[in-house]
Amino acid sequence: MKRNLLLTPGPTQVPPSICEVLGKPIIHHRTPQFQDYLKEAVEGLKYVFQTKNDVYVIASSGTGAMEASVCSFLSPGDKAITVEGGKFGERWTELCEAYGIETTVVDVEWGHSVDPVVIKKLLDENKDIKAVYVTLTETSTGVTADIEALGKVIKETDAILVVDAVSGLGVTDLQVDNWSVDAVASGSHKGLMLPPGVAFVSVSDKAAALMESSKCSSYYFDLKKYKKAAEKTDTPFTPAIGIVIALTESLRLIKEDGIENLFKHYERLAKATRAAAKALGLSLFADDSCISNALTAINVPDSVDGGKLVKLMRDTYGITMAGGQAQLKGKIVRIAHMGCLDEYDMLTGIACLEKALNESGYDFTLGSGVASAQAVFNS
Ligand SMILES: Cc1ncc(COP(=O)(O)O)c(C=O)c1O
Repeated sequence: MKRNLLLTPGPTQVPPSICEVLGKPIIHHRTPQFQDYLKEAVEGLKYVFQTKNDVYVIASSGTGAMEASVCSFLSPGDKAITVEGGKFGERWTELCEAYGIETTVVDVEWGHSVDPVVIKKLLDENKDIKAVYVTLTETSTGVTADIEALGKVIKETDAILVVDAVSGLGVTDLQVDNWSVDAVASGSHKGLMLPPGVAFVSVSDKAAALMESSKCSSYYFDLKKYKKAAEKTDTPFTPAIGIVIALTESLRLIKEDGIENLFKHYERLAKATRAAAKALGLSLFADDSCISNALTAINVPDSVDGGKLVKLMRDTYGITMAGGQAQLKGKIVRIAHMGCLDEYDMLTGIACLEKALNESGYDFTLGSGVASAQAVFNS
């Protein structure tokens, strides 16, 4: 039987105790039992978001939380800044355009992160900008943005700071309250180690004020409905019942480890993977100054087709990594560290990458990547 190890930046490996909960018979959502689960889930999410703000639970993939964070705060004709620099930054622009928002795009070179000074200048020159949309971990490039620095700049203005933390929540530090982050969109199938199907949005008082004045042009993604329902520990529509219940187990596991320890754990996995890549003679796609601990994007040698490499690992050895997207198709391989993964999973992945590179004709010393990763784990 072939293994199925997910080293992908979503969905991620689901721990056995969560799988057990997912296997339980369904209960009805308009019941005191489900209300208890929902209450526990929302409280636990506040711990992971590091916030006292409301957190709303939506049945959708992560993009639903992003969509809700556009249409619920802004009205057609409003102005916003979107920070690009990868596929998911581009999604903010596409969503804003879909809702008739006038968008100023900050085009960041892929592999780099946005300079807060650029955002400050734009906000100083355009006082009517209502929101700035950024990505915590740009999964297509392996970059993590400096949200703390952006928060410092944006809190001095009337604009709200909205962060896509679909990738990165629970993996990379994101201090929503301390860093003045007004809204965070996230999802179940990355750092929270659940199947896809549930999304979350946290909303600050500043964002809530904007929400009240927004002529939201969506029905399902109107956060006002989620706020009203949450006041009665409810959801406006049928929630993804099984995943919300399993979320309570995921949050229990996260609290047991402690969020700060988890950040250190993922950093260790990332450092070992980066060391392995370098030992194999491969460079990293993201700039050192903003490199992510949630995933590592490795440049594939010119002589190797990155798409074929990923397929070889998945179809022959049962280890799934992600290839490149858009202009990076075939050029990078992305190894995730988030989810239920440990150092042995990383070593397995690195060994498999070595095997596949070797079979693809790339010349290097077999075992050098694994040895360098081991050295990091032993340090
Ligand atoms: C940073 C980021 N934002 C948004 C999304 C979109 O999430 P979903 O595919 O769950 O809609 C992803 C998914 O990979 C992501 O990594």
